[in-house]
Amino acid sequence: MYILIVGSGGREHALAWKCAQDESVSGVFVCPGNAGTALENKVSNVSINVDDFAAVKDFCIEKNIALVIVGPEQPLVDGLVDYLDSNDIKTFGPSSTAAQLEGSKTFSKDFFIKYGIPTATYAAFDNFDSAKDHLKNISYPTVVKADGLAAGKGVIICQAENEALEALVSIFKDQAFGDAGTSVVIEDFLIGEEVSFIAVVSKDKIIPLATSQDHKAVGDGDVGLNTGGMGAYSPAPIVDEKLHQKIIEQVMKPTMQGLIAEGSPYLGFLYAGLMINNGELKVLEFNCRFGDPETQPILLRLKSSLVELCLSAIDDQLNNYQIQWTDEHACGVVIASNGYPQNYTKNKEVKIKSSDAIGMKLFHAGTKLQGDKVLTSGGRVFCATALGKDLQEAQSKAYNLVESVSFDGAFYRKDIGNKGLK
Ligand code: AMP
Ligand code: GLY
Repeated sequence: MYILIVGSGGREHALAWKCAQDESVSGVFVCPGNAGTALENKVSNVSINVDDFAAVKDFCIEKNIALVIVGPEQPLVDGLVDYLDSNDIKTFGPSSTAAQLEGSKTFSKDFFIKYGIPTATYAAFDNFDSAKDHLKNISYPTVVKADGLAAGKGVIICQAENEALEALVSIFKDQAFGDAGTSVVIEDFLIGEEVSFIAVVSKDKIIPLATSQDHKAVGDGDVGLNTGGMGAYSPAPIVDEKLHQKIIEQVMKPTMQGLIAEGSPYLGFLYAGLMINNGELKVLEFNCRFGDPETQPILLRLKSSLVELCLSAIDDQLNNYQIQWTDEHACGVVIASNGYPQNYTKNKEVKIKSSDAIGMKLFHAGTKLQGDKVLTSGGRVFCATALGKDLQEAQSKAYNLVESVSFDGAFYRKDIGNKGLK
C-alpha cells in the first residue's frame, strides 16, 4: 500500500521514516517534505500545495493512497481531514471542529471549564479596551495568548503590567498575529514542570503513547524566548503510574467525552501540554497533532506498526490494538539556525559526516535539496535522535550525532534531557 504524509518538518520525516519500515508499505509520499524525506528509502516528496485540497484528493486517488496522516495543525484546522474523508480517503487526524481545541484558545479554555478539566484561571477579550482594564485587576507574572494559530509565537509571558500592555498593543493594535489576534486569553502564570502527554484517540477509545518532555525555551536552563521545541526525550520519569492515571481520568477522558457530547468525536493524535506541580496537573494547551520534536524520540521507541495503529483508529478498532515499545530511552536534540525563533539565516549548505547507525537517526526539519546539496530552509533544521539503555546513554549518543552535522550558524541546547536525569 501507499501512504501520504502531509507536512515538511522533523515530525513528518519521522512519520514517513516509520511508515516506510512496514513491509506492507510499498511507498510513502510526503507533501511537501524536506531533504530528509527526499533521501529516505521508499519515501518521495510531492510538490502539491497543501491548501489546494482538491489537488491533494486527486493525488490520493491517482496513487491509490491507503492512508493519509496529516502532521501540522494548519491543514487540520482548515478542514483537510473533513474534505478527504468526504471523498472516502482514509485520513488520520481530527475534523476542523475538533481541531479547534488547538485552533482557538478561547474555544479550548471554555471547553476545559465546561467539562471540568483543570486549567489556569483566565479571562477572554475581543477588544483592546476591556483587555487593558483587566490588567489592573490581576497579579503578575501573567500570560497573554493570542486566540488563534500563531506558529507557537502567540503566547507572551509578562512579568509586569507594562509588559502585558505591550503584548495587547502588539496583538490588537499592531496585529502582530493577524487574524489569530482578534481576541486574547489572559491567564494566570503557572509554575511547575511541563509534560507532553500524547495519545492516539478514536471517539471514546485511547492508546496513550510513550511519555515525553520537550524543552520550549531557546536557551540552556530554559531561558530566552519560547520556540516550537529545542529537544525532547522519552520516557518522562516525572509521569509515574499515578500521574499517568490522573491524566487519563482528569484530562483525556473528559476531553474525549466532551467532544462526543459536542458532536465532534476526536480522531487522531491528541496532545495535552500539562504543567505538573507537586503531583497536581493543569492543562496549558491542547494540540490536535503529534508534537514536534516529541514525535522523533517517541517514534524511535515504537516497535509496533504506525500504519496499523492509525488504520485501527480510523476503523474504530483501537480496543483490539496492543501497542509495543522498546524499554530503551530516546533523546532528540534540535539543531537550529542562528537567530531562531526570530529571523534566522537560510540557504546554508549542510555537511553531514556520518550516516545513521542502528538506534540513531538524524531527522531533517528545515532542509531542502538543491541538486545533491542539502541546504537549510527553516529555523529548526535537524533533530538528532538516539536510543540508549538509559536516558544518559541516549543523551550522549544524540549529542554524538549532533557533532556529525555542520552548517554556518548552527546552534543547539547543551542540556536536552538533563531534567530527566535529575
Ligand atoms: P501554549 O501554546 O498555550 O501551550 O503556550 C506555549 C508555552 O507557553 C507553554 O508550553 C508554556 O511553556 C508557556 N505557557 C503557556 N501558558 C502558560 C501559563 N499559564 N503559565 C506558565 N507558562 C505558560
Ligand atoms: N513541541 C511542542 C509542539 O509540538 O507544539
